[in-house]
Parts: sequence; structure tokens; C-alpha cells
Amino acid sequence: MQLTLKADGRKNLAEQLAAAGYPLDLRCGGNGTCGRCRVRLRSGEWETDGKPVSVPAEVNACRTRLTGPEGEVEIPERSLAVRQGKVAAAWRSRPLPESRESVIAVDLGTTTVAAVKLCNGEIVREATCFNRQSRFGDNVITRINHVGTSSGALEELRMAAVESVNELLDRLEPDGAARIALAGNTVMSCLFHGIDPSPIGVMPFTPPCRIFPVRGAAELGLRAGDIPVLTVPAIAGYVGGDLTAGLLETPLRPGELLVDIGTNCEIILQTEQGMFCTAAAAGPAFEGAGIHCGSRAVPGAIDHYFGRNSCSVIGGAAPAGLCGSAMIDFLAVERRLGHLNEFGRIQPPADCFEAAPGVTIYEWEIEQLLKAKAAVRAGIATLAAYCRTPVKKLFLAGGFARYLDFGNAVACGMLPDCELEAVGNTSLGGAARLAVQPGLAAELERLIDLPKDIPLNLLDEFEDNYIDGLLLP
Ligand code: FES
Repeated sequence: MQLTLKADGRKNLAEQLAAAGYPLDLRCGGNGTCGRCRVRLRSGEWETDGKPVSVPAEVNACRTRLTGPEGEVEIPERSLAVRQGKVAAAWRSRPLPESRESVIAVDLGTTTVAAVKLCNGEIVREATCFNRQSRFGDNVITRINHVGTSSGALEELRMAAVESVNELLDRLEPDGAARIALAGNTVMSCLFHGIDPSPIGVMPFTPPCRIFPVRGAAELGLRAGDIPVLTVPAIAGYVGGDLTAGLLETPLRPGELLVDIGTNCEIILQTEQGMFCTAAAAGPAFEGAGIHCGSRAVPGAIDHYFGRNSCSVIGGAAPAGLCGSAMIDFLAVERRLGHLNEFGRIQPPADCFEAAPGVTIYEWEIEQLLKAKAAVRAGIATLAAYCRTPVKKLFLAGGFARYLDFGNAVACGMLPDCELEAVGNTSLGGAARLAVQPGLAAELERLIDLPKDIPLNLLDEFEDNYIDGLLLP
């Protein structure tokens, strides 16, 4: 679509477009590094990063300003922020206890927010949206960094989270609900409560708090009457309430792991001696960020890849990019077919590979995928080796596992060859259980003290396992 804009000296182009009703995908928070906000300048006088641009030109809108009185811009569909994706609100665990009360559970994720309304232990409504904080960056580090940019930034992030939850509450119709329970990673929970999460961004990653107070919905700015809002407590800086909730839903036996693969791969391992947890930075590649061929799980995203020009696409539309599960398929399938060597280099040598019409993967993008899968593999292998506990079974929580082909995840070396089970959105499941049974708060506070946090950067084996993990078996 094409738009004519008038000069507004204070706003950059991305801000002007958002004000005009066309918010862009600002995954790196306007740092000019992700390239997701690219638009085409058609006419007018512009500057990018303070330097004049000669039109026509393709630019990052977050770094561009209109310097003349008027300018014309073309916005590709792919650069627009996706308001609603296909996000799982389902989880697999024991049934919820029956209760006459109507309650609401929220999973506040870094990228997506999901909520359900429950009545008599059953889901009666569900809603999902993208976290409005995404305009400040696509991962917890960019959000933490944003807090330091101005005195009002923490409140800005808090309100973005509150407005995301409000968007869902409006769709769930919360009238008559007795309470809300929310689970999220530690940074999300802190931001939701207006607590500065900065200590999580620096060694030794200590969270400013792990247990969050019960607050009133109105006090927090939620449109749900004045009902109590409970927050699932966090285990550590990078092992948050989403994993505590997962632990509540998926009790572990020795040799069993609970893993949630996101920008951070959070891992809990039960051993004969006790419980241990860690987190490995997988980066945002599997969530479709930082690489051009990546996509979130939205219509048009390839969810399963079987070989060149053979794939399934969410919504049956023309393919526009690969979501995380298809990236794993790509690595495994093309390695099997001999189009990738063990270092992930394209065979016969080429800069890029066309996976589907219009979906091209460059070697540097394959490198990003290898780094992401190596971080997951190294995190699991290092924790298991540290605990001297062979992995018998791995429970995969979260949206990434939803479409994942386990055979390909093992074949490309991301997951160990053991029993694998997808358990769905257990963060939402645990929040739902807390909403129905608020008395579980004490049990959750007991659970967060069980896992011992093992920072991977302190273990030498992590580096070796990571380097091994970069190879394709
Ligand atoms: S390059 Fe503009 S938001 Fe990332």
C-alpha cells in the first residue's frame, strides 16, 4: 500500500506510520539491525541515520525521517506488525478441578500473549494477541535496555503489557470473573508489575524479585473490575514463572526434563539428587526474527518443509517465510538430501537456496539456525552432564513444539534421541490452575525453591558442546 505523509520533525518514519494506523514490525526495537521495518520511499526528501537518501530507495523506517514538506512511501505487507497470530492456548495435563467460579488465566509471553476464561474447570473462551511491547524490541534484553533509555520507559513497557492483556480481556468478557492469574518469564512479570528488571540483564542475572504481590485489577490498569490478580512466582532471572507453571502441570521424575524453547531455552532437569535448571540463549531465529526468511506462525508461514518446493503453509496461502518448526525440517531434510554439508554449507556451493517460490535462505541465515539449535542442544547436554544424569524423557512446552517434527529435531542434532512429548502451553495451564485454586500460591512458592540454578557460562563444557552442536550430523 502507498501513503503520502506530511512532515513531522519529531517522529521518525516508523512512528509516523504507526500514528497513521500502519504499525510496522519493529523487532529490534528500532535499532536498525533486524531489517523487518523496510519500506520503499517513492518521493520526497528523506534522511536515514542522519544522511540524505536519494529516492526511490528501500530503507529501515525506524532510522528514517522526512526532511521535506511531504513524501510518498510504499509499505510492503510483510513489514506490517502482525496484530494476531495463531497461538496455542491449549496444554496437556491433568484436568482442572471443577469450580463454579469464572476465572481468567493469562500467559504473558515476550512475543505473544494468550488468555482463557474458565468456568467449571472448562475453557469457555480464549484469545491471543502479540505483546505490544514488541515495538520496543523482540527479546527480553532489548526490553531491559529500553528501561534505561528514559525515566518514563519502565511505565511505557508496563502499559504496553497491560494494554496487551486488556485487548484479550475485552474479547473474553471478564464480567463476573472472580480473579485473574498470570504467568510469564521473569522479565515480563517484572515489567507487568512496573518493577525494573535491569539486574537480570547483567551478571549474575539476579531477579529483583521472584514472588509478586497480589494486586487489584483496577490498580494495575486492567479492564476487569476490581478483582485480584495473582502472578506465578519465578525460579530465577532466566527461568521464570512460565516454567514454574509448567512444573506444576508436568511433574518430573528422575531423568526427565522440561524444556521451553523460545528466545531463551529454559530447561529444568529432575535427578535422583534434586532438581536443576538453566537457560541457554537460543536467540530469536526460531521465532522468525533476525533472519529474512523467518516468520512467526502466522498465515503464510511454512510450518512443515519436506524438500524444495514441497511444504505445508499455515492457512494454505502462498509461502512467505519459514516458522521455527520448518527451519528445523529444512536443516534435517536438506542435510539428508545432501544439499547441506555437516557445516551447514550449501551443496553444490551457492550463496542461497530457494526452499519454496519466493522463500530464499542465505548461508548466513543457515548459520543463525545452526547457532540457535546448538544453544538448545548444548544447554541440555551440559546440564545433563553436570548432573551426571542421562536424559530419559523430554517434555517440550510452548508454541515452538506445537508444529515440531521430533524426528527432524533429533536428526539435525537439536534434541537428544530420547522419549519426547509436547505438552503445549503449560505456562497458561499453570496460570489457569492457580486462577481456579488460588490456595496453590503457597505450593508454587515452594516449587520455585526446588530447582538449583546452574548458569551455563560458569561451565567449561558448554562451549565444547556448543561447538559440537553447530554441526549437522
Ligand atoms: S531495523 Fe527497524 S525495527 Fe529493526
